[in-house]
Amino acid sequence: MIALGADHGGYALKEEVKKHLQQRGIAFVDFGCHSTESVDYPDMAVAPCQAVVKGECEKALLFCGTGVGISMAANKVRGIRACCCSDSFSAEYTRRHNDANALCLGGRVVGPGLACQLVDIFLDTPFEAGRHARRVEKLSKLEQV
Ligand code: RB5
Repeated sequence: MIALGADHGGYALKEEVKKHLQQRGIAFVDFGCHSTESVDYPDMAVAPCQAVVKGECEKALLFCGTGVGISMAANKVRGIRACCCSDSFSAEYTRRHNDANALCLGGRVVGPGLACQLVDIFLDTPFEAGRHARRVEKLSKLEQV
């Protein structure tokens, strides 16, 4: 199960990615927003990130205008490792090396074709663990600083 969240700047892209997930037969929960009416991205990050931290969802896909604001919000939630990216190398390696559990995309930055490609890479790439596990544990410890 994948958790989705967006503000108004990411709403349209979220809707495109939903169609793509449906085509792939990937189940998701859409935590909103549900229109282009203005909302605040920090508010929209909370529910999908909590669903991931609680184990109700495997990963989150988050959207705002740039992808940046909602990634900042997501990374404040304990247990979330969110990556804002618009290139395939980062989407792949944030899974391989950082075990990222939230991908953040900018509705005003990437088009739907690239966004869906990044989503596929993110969802399909495993964490390599090994030496990267130690570093991810150190990321978790930073949550106490
Ligand atoms: C909203 O206008 C915009 O600031 C937001 O979607 C996002 O880009 C923030 O980082």
